[in-house]
Parts: sequence; structure tokens; C-alpha cells
Amino acid sequence: MAQVTVELDERSYPIHIGAGFLTLLKQKLTGLRHQVLIITNPTVASFYLAPVLEQLADHQVEVFEMPDGEQYKSLAVYTEVMDRLIARGFNRDCAILALGGGVVGDLAGFVAATFQRGVDFFQVPTTLLAQVDSSVGGKTAVNHPRGKNLIGAFYQPQAVLIDTECLQTLTERDYLSGLAEVVKYGIIYDAAFFQWLEDHATELKQRNTHALIHAIERSCDIKAKVVAADEREAGIRALLNLGHTFGHAIEAATNYGEWTHGEGVAAGTVIASKLAEVTQRLSASDFRRIYALLDALGLPVKGPQMPWSQWLDYMQRDKKVKDGKLHFILPTGIGSAEVVKDIDSKTVAAVITECC
Ligand SMILES: NC(=O)c1ccc[n+]([C@@H]2O[C@H](COP(=O)([O-])OP(=O)(O)OC[C@H]3O[C@@H](n4cnc5c(N)ncnc54)[C@H](O)[C@@H]3O)[C@@H](O)[C@H]2O)c1
Ligand SMILES: [Zn+2]
Repeated sequence: MAQVTVELDERSYPIHIGAGFLTLLKQKLTGLRHQVLIITNPTVASFYLAPVLEQLADHQVEVFEMPDGEQYKSLAVYTEVMDRLIARGFNRDCAILALGGGVVGDLAGFVAATFQRGVDFFQVPTTLLAQVDSSVGGKTAVNHPRGKNLIGAFYQPQAVLIDTECLQTLTERDYLSGLAEVVKYGIIYDAAFFQWLEDHATELKQRNTHALIHAIERSCDIKAKVVAADEREAGIRALLNLGHTFGHAIEAATNYGEWTHGEGVAAGTVIASKLAEVTQRLSASDFRRIYALLDALGLPVKGPQMPWSQWLDYMQRDKKVKDGKLHFILPTGIGSAEVVKDIDSKTVAAVITECC
């Protein structure tokens, strides 16, 4: 087991990581209020709601099961949760507990941020993506029909509880999707961790518990440091978007269904790394290591083929575009990255053609 702290002065909070931690929920989540609303979905509830309810036997617990799917991270579902809280007489002293992946966590966090101007929030992430990324750092949101995460708030939880055993029931694609984010942390921040990932790719693919605890701890620690340095993404936090501008274009072009987020990020990371190599920021051997690790983990290393105009269109819709200019996060080595604003579109187009 392991523990990481997100250092944000009086809003600092712990991330508890261990195998079987759902059964220690009460002990780990100290300070959990009497009134608790659990937000989850039927898929997650079928596996993990019972042990959580058992832990909260002496609390006043209400369960809100939202339907499973990104399309339900919506204002309509948010309103239903608010209606439920008000109908059940929940007050300012309640807590919201998210039990699920990033969809549940993002919506639950926005509920916590806004119900009665903010109530306690606890994250119990059950996908790898949520455990290493979305449950840490305080970004909460729901989608608008015109775009993802357009309505939301920065709102940090009181604590995060990660049970690595939950990952055993994930589908292969959802599991791999989270691994793409794990690799991202090694590339942008930590050469030693990247090498550890290369050395333990097989154990990770097999969901080995020890390997998972280490990979999740390192990932949360890196995310925690980045968030502590730049909570509202004025600078370094943007590096967490490595591969995402291309990845989002792939997801959007394939209607958010054919490619998972992590698959898009993996192929996008290869494109970003190639762009870094071509513009003399990254050595050819470091490019090969990034490509080889993603490939060894079973992630896609080639993007889909689509015309340059379509790439441009989708990339420009990405909200990371500033002043009409495309910004790219490019690795400058294994363990470091930078934001680059002045790459001509011919070079980008040529690299995309090469990588797709
Ligand atoms: N807030 C942030 O900083 C941040 C960062 C990255 C992504 N996100 C958001 O996260 C969301 C994606 O999260 P996700 O990839 O976890 O998707 P998800 O929440 O849709 O979960 C993926 C699937 O796995 C199922 N599932 C969850 N836990 C399971 C388990 N233990 N066993 C079996 N099945 C399980 C879910 O029901 C779902 O069908 C997106 O909405 C994205 O915008 C937020
Ligand atoms: Zn991501």
C-alpha cells in the first residue's frame, strides 16, 4: 500500500492506494460525514456497491445510480442528482462520494462543488484512468451538447481512496486506456519511472498487483506535484495534455466511440513525439523508446487516416487552442516536455501522414 499527498495548503488531501482498500473505506476516509450521497452507475454498483454500503452501515446513505456512459455526464443528470439531494433533505454537512470511473467522478465532483455552494467530496475511482488521472487534481465537469467538459469547476476532494483490486474487472480496452496516461507521466516528468515501465511492461499488462500499486503511486505523485505547482493550468499543468490535442481530434473524428480516450492519447503521443523528433527536440532513440513502450503495452501507435483539413478542424476545436494558434506539448527527452507554439502546419501535416 502507499499514500500520496496533494499539497494545496489548507486544501491538501491524501490519496490512499492499496489492494482491497474498499474494505478499509471507513478507516481510511476519516472525517466522512453522517449524510452521504454515493454516486455510481449500475456496472460499478454490481461489483463494488455492497462492500462500500457495508462500511457505511451507521451512516445515512443515499445511492444515486446514473446510467453508464459519457453521454450521461450531462446537466440533465446533474439536475436529477440535485433533485434527489433536496428531496431527501440533505444539508450543508453532507458528503458526496463518487464510486466509479471518470464519468461518475467528474459529475459527482461538480455536484459537490455546487450543492449548497460546496460540500465535502470523496473520490473512490474504479477505472485505471480515474485512479491515475481524473480523481486527482480537482477538475470537475459535465458536458454540453456542443462540447466536452464545458460546464464545471475546480473543486478538490477531501480524500481519494484507490483499491487496485477494482481494476481486475475492467475490460481490456478500458484498462489499456488508463495505461496510456501512466506512460504520459513518465515521458513528461520522470525518466526513471519511464524505464521502470519499460522493465515491467509484462507485469502491467497482466495487472500484477505490486506493479499496479507502484505505477499508480508514481502517477498520482507526479500529477499531485504538477497540480500543486499549477492548480488552474496557467503553466506546467498543460504538460499533462501530451498527446491530447491529436488524441481529441481522433476521438472526435470517430464520434467518441471507435477509439477510447487512452487509445487516442497513445497514437497522439506517437505523433507528438515524432513532431518533436522532426523539429530536433527529441533524439531518434528516445522516439523509438516511446513508440516501443506504447506498442509493448498493446496500445495503438498509429492514428487513423483522415484528410489534413479534418485534423485541423478537430484540433482547432480543442479548447487547448489559444489565440487561434495551435499549441503542442512536445517531449524534449524522456522525462521532460515543453509547450511549443510556432510549428508550421506543413511540418505537422507531414508528421501526421507519417504516423497514420
Ligand atoms: N477530471 C479530470 O481531470 C479528468 C481527466 C481525464 C479524464 N476525465 C474524464 O474522465 C472520463 C473518462 O473516464 P473513464 O475512462 O474512467 O470512463 P468511464 O467512467 O466511462 O468508465 C469506463 C467504463 O468502465 C466501467 N467501469 C468503471 N469501473 C469499473 C470496474 N472497476 N470494473 C468494470 N467496469 C468498470 C464504467 O461503468 C464504464 O463503462 C471522461 O468523461 C473524461 O472527460 C477527467
Ligand atoms: Zn487524458
